[in-house]
Amino acid sequence: MSEKNALKVDKRKSNELIKLLRNLKLLDEDLKIKRTDDFIIVPLLRKPTAEELEKLNPVKPTLHVDIFAPRVRISSVKDALKGLIPDEMLNLVPSSMDLIGEVAIIQVQDELKPFLKMIGEAVLKIYPRIKTVLVKRCLISGVFRVGGYEVVVGSGETETVYKEHGCRYLVDPVKVYVSPRLGYERLRVASMVKPGETVLDMFTGVGCYAILIAKKVKECKVYAVDLNPNAVKYLKHNIEENRVQSRVVPIEGDVAEIVESSLRGMFDRVIMDNPSHAKMFLRTACDALKRTGGVVHYYEFRPESDLKNKVLEEFHGNVEMLRRSVKSAKMRVVREVAPRIYHVVVDATIQ
Ligand SMILES: C[S@@+](CC[C@H](N)C(=O)[O-])C[C@H]1O[C@@H](n2cnc3c(N)ncnc32)[C@H](O)[C@@H]1O
Repeated sequence: MSEKNALKVDKRKSNELIKLLRNLKLLDEDLKIKRTDDFIIVPLLRKPTAEELEKLNPVKPTLHVDIFAPRVRISSVKDALKGLIPDEMLNLVPSSMDLIGEVAIIQVQDELKPFLKMIGEAVLKIYPRIKTVLVKRCLISGVFRVGGYEVVVGSGETETVYKEHGCRYLVDPVKVYVSPRLGYERLRVASMVKPGETVLDMFTGVGCYAILIAKKVKECKVYAVDLNPNAVKYLKHNIEENRVQSRVVPIEGDVAEIVESSLRGMFDRVIMDNPSHAKMFLRTACDALKRTGGVVHYYEFRPESDLKNKVLEEFHGNVEMLRRSVKSAKMRVVREVAPRIYHVVVDATIQ
């Protein structure tokens, strides 16, 4: 550490001085400002010129030389944990987590469990908007596709507003499926919808596909179905909140039964976002499409070895077994969900 040029001012002038120094590109942001009872001493990148001192005159600074400690920038949860947990554990701290409104969801390996509270506190420190930190205790499972969570730190409130592409969704990740990782995919699909289309969102959750489509495409109708009563409660709220009541029809129940009883042959486009069970519902999707055909967005989880040919070959075969034909189909990887396991989508035009 060496001596640096600095300016000393009355502490009541602190904000004004820092603003002026930033404008003049004189402030050394890598060093810590010193504070006494009456003054602050601010490190500079270089000695100010006479002209610059003139501009600083309103805050009446005095030139000074001092030694400053480096400023430690805490920008990640790992940084915030340095010195608090053993170094060998730091590498195990996850570098990403799901931030859903005011709720953060972390997933940690068993070795980190004794440090869970500290990790949670670090998350609160790095993300001031977060009120509750949850840890994922078990993977997303069951028909409703909800994970098992436990509160680590914070208020414990888990109902929150999640914002995506200008839409607001009231959600509770403990009760309904919600994933901020599908934001791009939802936008991609919504961008393909044309005015005049009738769309079926077979597994809508809280409505993240259906509501986005209805917001983007003014002349469309989206039927949004889910089996989870909590998801449909939030869906109805979110339809109102985003003012798309005239374009989204919420329906609670089993989509297979609902299509069979009242929605056959109605749709230009069907979204099948239930990757763990997609195949079971392909017949329902085909039945829902207009007889003249339409587009299906078919999601699955598949190992890397299936991506080259198998996904599309199987899709073609399965559709043909239902006595429909695939006019065109393309596969794309949405994301990696586990080592070499992928969430994929087939965008297909079916006749
Ligand atoms: C992966 S989540 C879909 C989430 C939603 N598309 C989104 O973007 O957030 C699957 C959803 O399918 C619903 N589901 C499961 N079986 C169903 C069925 N037979 N009929 C309707 N919905 C069902 C679950 O309750 C869950 O909300």
